[in-house]
Amino acid sequence: FNISGFQKALLHWYDQNKRDLPWRENQDPYRIWVSEIMLQQTKVDTVIPYFHHFLEKFPTVQDLAAAEEQEVLKAWEGLGYYSRARNLQHAVREVVTEYNGEIPSTPKELGSLKGVGPYTKGAILSIAFNKPEPAVDGNVMRVFSRLLHIEDDIAQARTKKLFEEYTRELISSDDPSSFNQAIMDLGATICTPKAPTCMLCPLHEYCRAFADGVQEKLPIKQKAKKPK
Ligand code: ADE
Repeated sequence: FNISGFQKALLHWYDQNKRDLPWRENQDPYRIWVSEIMLQQTKVDTVIPYFHHFLEKFPTVQDLAAAEEQEVLKAWEGLGYYSRARNLQHAVREVVTEYNGEIPSTPKELGSLKGVGPYTKGAILSIAFNKPEPAVDGNVMRVFSRLLHIEDDIAQARTKKLFEEYTRELISSDDPSSFNQAIMDLGATICTPKAPTCMLCPLHEYCRAFADGVQEKLPIKQKAKKPK
């Protein structure tokens, strides 16, 4: 597998085709953090107007830390999963008191903040801080299961670990931020769950599932067994 050819093809495609999203205007870690929390359970198109409004109301970590919880919940109204907003404000207050208002950039410290799980941690570290860290969710597992023709059950926790290890091997050390976002965009626009448009894919010459004709059969996801 030609890793550097693959990275080049992916990053070139991203440069030409990246979605124009408001949290991509700059790499401010606070903006990236807010976007990733909103995107946890909510689609991109729904998030966009909330993201604009939230950032206007609470432009910095300090503004969000100082706000009344009710104000924060009001800005979140309609997005659902309100514990995300409460946890975010709790975490931002910790950033102000424990880290002098600077969002930490180590996996350990960032991952200790409320509401920052492995995916969100990896997304912030890579997108905002340019660290070569995996940010693996269902979309990323779909893209890599096809690229590498992996038949492991993505419903298993250990499969996610496996994909994190693969990402560590494949991620561009020059531009981990673009790399992870390129995989996200590829999964959203080309390497879709149904009827992926492989002819348009910048990676089709690297894709093992495409070569084997099984792209529509991957990823494998076993139904959870019902307890008796
Ligand atoms: N889904 C989760 N994080 C995302 C991001 N940063 N850009 C686009 N879609 C995403």
